[in-house]
Amino acid sequence: MTFTVLSLFPEIIQAYFTSSIMAKAVEKGIIACHNINIRDYAVDKHKTCDDAPYGGGAGMVLKPEPLAAALDAAGADRKRVVVPTPSGRLFTQDYARELAAEKELVIVCGRYEGIDQRVLDMYCNDEVSLGDYVLSSGEVAAMAIIDAIYRLLDGVITRESLDEESFSGGLLEYPQYTRPEVFRDLRVPEILLSGHHANIKAWRQEQSLLKTREYRPELLEGRSEK
Ligand code: 6GU
Repeated sequence: MTFTVLSLFPEIIQAYFTSSIMAKAVEKGIIACHNINIRDYAVDKHKTCDDAPYGGGAGMVLKPEPLAAALDAAGADRKRVVVPTPSGRLFTQDYARELAAEKELVIVCGRYEGIDQRVLDMYCNDEVSLGDYVLSSGEVAAMAIIDAIYRLLDGVITRESLDEESFSGGLLEYPQYTRPEVFRDLRVPEILLSGHHANIKAWRQEQSLLKTREYRPELLEGRSEK
């Protein structure tokens, strides 16, 4: 899968793609990232990419011409174009799976107050929001979206870990422990040392339910076990 990321700060994206599991996925040829600096497509001598909003108000808006030229260079007319924005469709695990089915994605990182609507209308397929809070950097949002997608691709992590994790069963994940058995007088729950797989499974299910009831009760709506 190929990610083409348009940004005013491509070095942020670059750093992410060249570290840890992400770098391994690139090395294995599972993903590739093309970075496009929107500023390279600015036309005036100051390389202006933003301007004040028509109608007034605070902040600056990404100008249409450099961004549209950068999108053309990315081949955006033939690809699914995703724009991270707090005013978009809520990003979920199902949405991540939907995007993971694409061969190519273009992701546009905004800064300032937003992007000229005409460019969104002309090029953008998905406006995606991570939740009800505001990030100043579209790059941070883009990396979260890319991370949630690429780890679902074959060969990045094991099927087993994908199956076990939060949201696969619609519940939050149960607590995990590793050695030592006693840490600052705190013992690992005895049941995890029992070797009794059925009991361990039942305990984990119960812990998942308790945790979900505490933090995300709305996830339990319409389920038989509450
Ligand atoms: Cl996708 N972008 C930005 N800038 N802020 C956000 C967001 C996205 N989702 C929640 N807040």
